[in-house]
Amino acid sequence: MTAVRQDTLWKRFLEPIFGVLLDREAIQQADKQIDWEKECDRLTTPHFIYPEYYQLQNFHGIEGGYLNKVAATTYDPITRYALPPNEDWIREAAIAAIAGQPESILDLGCGTGSMALHLKRAFPEAKVTGLDLSPYMLAIADYKSQQAGLDIHWQHGKAEATPLRDRSFDLIMVALLFHETPPEITRAILRECFRLLSEGGQIIVSDGNQKNLRHVEWVSNIFEEPYLQDYLANTIEADLGAAGFAAVQSQDVWWANQVTRANKPVKSI
Ligand SMILES: C[S@@+](CC[C@H](N)C(=O)[O-])C[C@H]1O[C@@H](n2cnc3c(N)ncnc32)[C@H](O)[C@@H]1O
Repeated sequence: MTAVRQDTLWKRFLEPIFGVLLDREAIQQADKQIDWEKECDRLTTPHFIYPEYYQLQNFHGIEGGYLNKVAATTYDPITRYALPPNEDWIREAAIAAIAGQPESILDLGCGTGSMALHLKRAFPEAKVTGLDLSPYMLAIADYKSQQAGLDIHWQHGKAEATPLRDRSFDLIMVALLFHETPPEITRAILRECFRLLSEGGQIIVSDGNQKNLRHVEWVSNIFEEPYLQDYLANTIEADLGAAGFAAVQSQDVWWANQVTRANKPVKSI
């Protein structure tokens, strides 16, 4: 298990800065509106066992990772500043990479649902499902979709072994997930995506730019992310190819991000 350093730049400098920048009113508003115990009970799959790589880690400096309401309520205000120059532009670049009009969309590792909300707005007729391991993150996602009047189904589960049916989606979006999963889990998630997509279906991966950030040492030191180094050392294009995907294409998005799209091949008869 990767140990998280205690003296990261995050702890020393960024945590205090983000602390000042956080939109406290929005956080308190969401916190007050959500009955955490009730919502987490409702959103959690009974008898669920969390994977060790997820439960025992801190992610971006939050003790205990995503399984608490502090992580869930601070995620959106932090992400606003963690995706320069503009979070919405980066999410819209991922939406722009989608071909055609998908009808059944899965947002894997959906977190607080920001990308799922973008997807539902871009494709209002599509059935959109967001899946995440944290019921706390899903509680915020559900709160946000209700506030926005958007009908999105929220599902608790592991992206690498979902309870969802074979070939039940024609688009899978994976945003900002793979820099937080160990390499073997990333590969298992891509195999699961292949199973879940219909033939000809597409996958879009939006995350940190592996080629550009690989050699920038301070990136891993700044963001307290236990699997970021591994993510940057690998190439998502090779992982997609190994999972069976074809027509794999990447583009840089504002230097520090990338969008990769690929298709599940149509079987020839
Ligand atoms: C950095 S957040 C990204 C959230 C969202 N996709 C976005 O674009 O803002 C990573 C999310 O992935 C979830 N996650 C991590 N490992 C997962 C797994 N194996 N299966 C499902 N969700 C996972 C975490 O709970 C967290 O909500």
